[in-house]
Amino acid sequence: MRGLLIVGILAFYAPILSAQQSVAEVEAHKHLGVASCASSVCHGQTKTPKDAKVQMNEFALWQEFDPHAKSYDVLLNASSKAIASKLGIGPAENAKICLDCHTDNAPAAMRGEQFQIDDGVGCEACHGGAENWIASHTKGSHADNLAAGLFPTEDPVKRAELCQSCHAGTKDRMITHRIMGAGHPRLSFELDTFTWLHPHYTVDADYETRKGRFDGVRDWGVGQGQAAVNLIDILLDKKVGWHGIFPELVLFDCHACHRPMSGKKWGPRQGTGLGPGVVRLNDSNLVMFRHVLAAVDSNGAKRVLDQTRALHHATTESLAATDTAARNLRQTVTGLLPAVGQKNFGVETLGTILGSIVADADRGEFRDYANAEQAAMAAQSLVVAFENAGLLDEAATNRLRARSDAVLDAVANDENYTMAQFVEALKALRAAAP
Ligand code: HEC
Ligand code: HEC
Ligand code: HEC
Ligand code: HEC
Repeated sequence: MRGLLIVGILAFYAPILSAQQSVAEVEAHKHLGVASCASSVCHGQTKTPKDAKVQMNEFALWQEFDPHAKSYDVLLNASSKAIASKLGIGPAENAKICLDCHTDNAPAAMRGEQFQIDDGVGCEACHGGAENWIASHTKGSHADNLAAGLFPTEDPVKRAELCQSCHAGTKDRMITHRIMGAGHPRLSFELDTFTWLHPHYTVDADYETRKGRFDGVRDWGVGQGQAAVNLIDILLDKKVGWHGIFPELVLFDCHACHRPMSGKKWGPRQGTGLGPGVVRLNDSNLVMFRHVLAAVDSNGAKRVLDQTRALHHATTESLAATDTAARNLRQTVTGLLPAVGQKNFGVETLGTILGSIVADADRGEFRDYANAEQAAMAAQSLVVAFENAGLLDEAATNRLRARSDAVLDAVANDENYTMAQFVEALKALRAAAP
């Protein structure tokens, strides 16, 4: 009973843990290096052995297709040299700030003999230091492995924290506007889309028996809430969130500043309630989280909308007001996250979510590119879910895919994004969906 209670409390508080926490977990045990996973009798096989639970070709797939395998090499290229030189930080491949996100930068004392920094974002950067589970993990249950320090990458909340520690930045691994100003690409992330861009894993019936239900729409929803919390945490941190008289600009909508003055593109957005000429926080994840909630808790969605508007307004008032509004919103989002994580996003919820996004499009919410970009990735997740639900024949599937490609095309380039084209593509997608 007591055990159950503790598990219950942990499950409730889990989403409130920060990305820092997951980095600490990944670094808690010695990292033995990719070579210790990659041998031809381990994860370096080309054919799956008959009795194996996992494919055993993970290393080969990672090495060939996954950009993480080449993320150290990026630090040696001309762009990185230019960025590092503009920042005056010495060679990028020696700079901690770059290594933290582009490699498995475990502390020196936590590196085993076969560990090599130039392996890039290697297995243990995500799966956790293998010191305590390397010998036993083929024999025990998944729960045994987790207890020995394997990081729970299958858990969407934990995975979101982990991926965002590099794909959005945290207090410790921070991507600043200064780094962007020196030429670093803008970061954008969506948990479900990115989980399936270059996978070295397969989710089948056996996977679900070992690790539980896999639901892409749930992962999308959890990823949005967790990303919003991550942004709020950086905003609340006086050291990382502020420089001189300015807040860290990376937390704001890039295109609020970076666009031509002749555009005359300003128009109201209900989600901000702000007037023209105001720099606004990048609220794309909060906007998307509202759409997830449309199928989970519509009162919650309303609360997130009201408190997001309050936060936008507070940023035009004072630092103290911003702090209070950010804390209120954080509490609301973390309070709602468990329900999203536990929701079974059945086929009836998909149309609700898509409808909610389209209604927002009609109200002009996708004026800001970052919001449209997130909505486009959401649309992809929903289309895959419609397909998986088995509701579509081949012709309908092809039509839906073509329309979701058009939605993606409409956000392909942030510098010539036009809201009208995006909204039209989104509506055409809605019309083709079941
Ligand atoms: C918070 C984590 C983070 C930090 C800090 C960071 N990067 Fe990156 N970097 C990324 C991610 C994530 C991408 C991939 C973006 C994408 O494709 O979505 C990337 C992409 C890049 C690219 C473009 C890669 C390509 O294939 O074209 C270059 C170049 C780069 N980073 C160099 C650097 C340098 C140099 C530093 C240090 C000054 C640095 N990065 C610091 C996370 C980070
Ligand atoms: C960028 C993060 C990341 C890196 C790097 C990474 N993995 Fe994974 N791995 C994942 C995710 C996410 C999953 C899917 C969720 C899960 O099952 O835990 C996964 C799943 C797996 C699985 C389980 C498949 C199953 O059916 O249960 C194995 C085995 C695996 N990875 C091995 C490796 C090996 C070996 C490497 C290095 C060559 C590696 N991974 C590198 C994130 C990563
Ligand atoms: C230690 C930092 C780190 C972690 C943790 C991490 N990534 Fe990355 N990721 C990077 C960097 C750096 C790049 C860019 C590599 C390059 O351009 O070669 C990248 C690139 C990617 C790309 C390629 C993007 C593209 O445009 O094709 C995907 C997809 C991706 N990451 C997904 C994930 C997912 C999913 C997770 C969590 C399971 C994750 N990453 C965790 C650092 C990280
Ligand atoms: C509050 C306004 C503001 C916001 C928000 C903002 N920037 Fe900037 N950005 C600037 C200013 C000011 C400069 C410096 C221009 C100069 O040096 O002439 C700059 C410079 C840059 C540069 C260098 C451009 C060049 O010509 O060298 C890049 C790249 C950049 N920002 C990217 C971004 C990205 C990506 C975001 C969003 C994550 C963003 N900015 C958000 C105001 C902003």
